[in-house]
Amino acid sequence: MKKRLGILLSGRGSNFEAIADNVAAGRLDAEIAVVISNRPEARGLEVARQRGLHAVCIPSKGLDREVYDRMLAEELRRCRVDLICLAGFMRLLSAWFVREFPFQILNIHPSLLPAFPGLDAQAQALEHGVKVSGCTVHFVDEYLDHGPIILQAAVPVLEDDTVETLSARILREEHRIYTEAIRIVLSGRWRIEGRRVRILPE
Ligand code: GRF
Repeated sequence: MKKRLGILLSGRGSNFEAIADNVAAGRLDAEIAVVISNRPEARGLEVARQRGLHAVCIPSKGLDREVYDRMLAEELRRCRVDLICLAGFMRLLSAWFVREFPFQILNIHPSLLPAFPGLDAQAQALEHGVKVSGCTVHFVDEYLDHGPIILQAAVPVLEDDTVETLSARILREEHRIYTEAIRIVLSGRWRIEGRRVRILPE
């Protein structure tokens, strides 16, 4: 039985598209069971529909965090999702939700965590003056951009970089390592030691 992914997004959805491309090409042995957006206008939702995937909008505006998260959990369970992938999902998940799906939620963040958590990570990196930045795929815990790290990729920060050029360089790596991290997690070749995710040999 193929493992079933649930993708949560709020916007553009390029990470979702990269994952969907890899699934379609047989490079990732899984299926996308559902794509959920908390914003009706999310481009990613439209792309999911065009691809014939099960795409659902559950608007979050004005809802209490846990009330919303219970709706999310219900849809994910209905779709028998094995792994939840946050792909530009602009909402903090409640401790309740995280406990419901232990080590079953991944996130991607456009910095080398723990540097520059939160919004506008690429702008934060430029302002701070770092010479190397990158991206991180991690398990989600109840704190923002905080859980155990599965994979990271580094990119150089160039002298004439703008937020746009740096973001584009990081995004290419995001598209590569998110699928790789999903593959590792689904394979079960890992174990947790404190904050460390140990990746075991094949
Ligand atoms: C990415 O930079 C991701 O790291 C961050 O939000 C952005 C989403 O981009 N969490 P996209 O919607 O996947 O194109």
